[in-house]
Order: sequence, then C-alpha cells, then structure tokens
Amino acid sequence: MSGAGLFRRKIITEQPAERRLARTLSWPHLVALGVGAIVGTGILTLIGVASDRAGPAVLLSFAVAGGICACAALCYAEMATAIPASGSAYTYSYAVLGEIVAWVVGWSLILEYSLVVATVAVGWSGYAARFLDWLGLSVPHALAAGPGAGGVVNLPAVFIIAVVAGLLTLGTRESARINTALVALKIVTLALFVVVALPHFQSANLHPFAPFGYGAATGPDGAKRGMMGAAAIIFFAFYGFDAISTAAEETKRPERDLAIGIVGSMAACTVIYMVVGAAAVGAVSYTRFGKSAEPLALILAELGRGGVATVVALAAAIALPTVLLAFLYGQSRIFLVMARDGFLPPALAAVSRRGTPARITWLTAVFVGIIAGLAPLDLIASLANAGTLCAFAAVALCVLVLRRREPAARRPFRVPAAWVVAPLAIGGCLYLFTSLSGLTQRFFFAWNALGLIVYFAYARRRAIT
Ligand code: ALA
Repeated sequence: MSGAGLFRRKIITEQPAERRLARTLSWPHLVALGVGAIVGTGILTLIGVASDRAGPAVLLSFAVAGGICACAALCYAEMATAIPASGSAYTYSYAVLGEIVAWVVGWSLILEYSLVVATVAVGWSGYAARFLDWLGLSVPHALAAGPGAGGVVNLPAVFIIAVVAGLLTLGTRESARINTALVALKIVTLALFVVVALPHFQSANLHPFAPFGYGAATGPDGAKRGMMGAAAIIFFAFYGFDAISTAAEETKRPERDLAIGIVGSMAACTVIYMVVGAAAVGAVSYTRFGKSAEPLALILAELGRGGVATVVALAAAIALPTVLLAFLYGQSRIFLVMARDGFLPPALAAVSRRGTPARITWLTAVFVGIIAGLAPLDLIASLANAGTLCAFAAVALCVLVLRRREPAARRPFRVPAAWVVAPLAIGGCLYLFTSLSGLTQRFFFAWNALGLIVYFAYARRRAIT
C-alpha cells in the first residue's frame, strides 16, 4: 500500500512465474473475443428503444456512442497492459486513484455487471418468445413480460439466468471454438437481416431525420428524447470490450495485439451497427418497431418475411447467452477481487469443490433474476450504462494521473495522443451521463450513497493493508 487514509493505493506486484498465464492469444482471437462480448441485446433489442427516442437520427447516436467507447477502449488497453491484474477498472483505480475511488468504481461495476445480465436476459426473452410461438409453445404474455411491459413477471428471463449461472458453477468456460462459432452466428444473423431488409430501404422513412432534435430533452414520460438521449441508451451496445483488456496477460504481443483487438472489434462493431441501423430505420418507419421486444424480427415480419424472422429469433436465442456468460463471469471476478481486498465478506468469495465461486454466482443470479423478472428494460439498461460510464471515466483518469505521476513506468501499449483521447473519453462519458433520464441518475446516486454507507460502516475497517 502507498498513500494514506481514504486515498491509500494498492501496489500491484507481478504474478510469480508459476502463476503467470500462458501467452497464447493474438489479435484475431482478441477481435473475436471482443465482438463476442459486445454484440448482444444492444443491437438486437435496444435499437428499438433508441429509435423510439431519436427517430432515424439514431444512426448518429450509434456514431457518438461508438466514438466515446473507442476513446475509453484505448485507455483500457493502456491500463490493462500497464497493470495486468484481474479486477479491471476497480483494480486500476485502486492502484492509481486510491481506496475510496476504487470502492465507488467497484460498487458501480457491481451495478453494471448485474444489470447488463438482467438486460440481456430480458432481450433474450423477447426473441425466445417468438421462437417458442413458432414451436406452438406460447408463453402467456403475463408470464413473459415484467409489470413495466404489461405483464406480471418475465419468466423466460429468469430461466435463462438460472441456466447460465448453473453452467458457470459447473465450471463451464466458453472454449475459444464455441465462442468463435457463436460470434460467427451473430454476425451471420445480422448479415441476414441486412440482406433481407436493405432492399426495402425507402428514404421517406428517414424523414424527418431528427424528430426529437439532436440533444437530450426530457419528454412527458420522463425519458430523454433526441439524438444524445438515444446515444446514452445505445451506448449499451458497445461495451464488453473490457473483456479484451482482461486477456492482457495471455496476449502474445500485447503492445500490438491488444490495440488491434480493442480498436478492431470496436471499429467492426461500429460499422456493423451503422449498417444494421440503416437497414432497420430505412425499411420500416421507426414508429412501428420502437416499442417491440424483438425489433429486428418484427421488422422482417412486417416486410412479409416471417420465416426469416423466426430464423433470426432462433439465432439470437442461441447466441445471446454468450454475453450473459461473459458478464456473469466478470461479475464473480470483480466480487472475488473485492473480497480478497477485504471489502466484502470473505464467505462470499468461497470457492466450491469444482473450483468456481458458486456462492457468489448464485447470490448474483438470484438478485439479477428478480430484477430481470420485474424491471422495465430501458430503466435497467440505462442504469447499467450509468455504472459503466463511471468505470470508463475512472480508467481514462487513471491513464492521465499515471502518465503525470510515473512518466517512465512500463507501458507496453500507449494511448496515442493521450492528452486528447483520455479527456475526450472522460468528457464524453460525463456528457452521456447527463443525457440519461433524471430517474436513472437518481437511482445511480442512491446506489452509490448506499455503497458509501457500506464502505464507512463495514468495508473501510476491513480493508486489508
Ligand atoms: N454490448 C453488450 C450487448 O449489447 C452488453 O448486449
């Protein structure tokens, strides 16, 4: 430890040789890993919510959110190679910014990871419902949607979380081959959507282009409408690349491969999203799919291609759980590192006989399952975004502070033009945060207020020095 009091900093020591991971990955693996964790409910489901908020200007929302994420991603690459230890933004903050900031970031990451899992599960249920309908196994709406969406409880969302938690406690890891196959399935699905929808493109559907303007103005329902309001939601579609930064230790040439992996997967996803977005808003008026639980399938059905809609629904139902797996797995790792640092009860970090943190995985699954069963999609997605924006801004700040404090420290990857890119990431994250609805912001602050109570009442005294 260095520093004192609330700003004590953790000194990260390099893992001894026998505990170091083998360097087996190069950039194509990293791009696949990134695209696998990134492409999910954002493009498949939240495209509807975001189009509803911005109209066709959602295409610019994609560009803004993608640009901010690209700046943050570069900062992650620098920190991941400078401090190749698990725990992601929480660990970087503990080493650079001090204990209390690390606590706030860790507490925000718990919110992010939990709510991403809940959001993706709700997105999954929308597509699974169409496929089950086709099989003749319709789930009544009351049991397939939460109270905010006109139902009682979203049972399919609870079900898929239980399945993924079960897989994780059994020790199942997605092997590189399965991951690559599912990434390919996602890309093929989106390509199929584009091939079918794009020929129906009508420029009339793009007028008016920005019916709610380019900012983020609060509408009568409390949601923020306009291009920036939608960017703050569709931001969800871009993250997941932090998964690449966690592979820093296993990368053959981190200084080159991490940069290509992170920037490459971000660039690939931005292009894919803009093409899918253009095909969607060009084929059918955004007013027709904005409130759908399975917008891409609905668009295809509206175009008279019900068969393709079912194929897309099936492919989404098969491939989406990879995102759940990645985030539920990441969640348990953040908890473990926080428990190791003494911040959470050690009993939570107990490892089962199979070598997995079963207790924390199930605890998380129950908590997340309740949220997924009951909470409205847009609220949980935007709260997940609030937690992520906090973590991204902290990582960008770490880059700047470390450059100033330890200019000669080893940095296998350096953010190009760091004094431009990192401030852009911080400013962009803060701006997107202010573009979230007032309700989301209040929830976020309440969550962190609760976190600070836990910190001062429990965690601070227990922090391992
Ligand atoms: N980017 C991930 C998704 O869209 C979290 O599902």
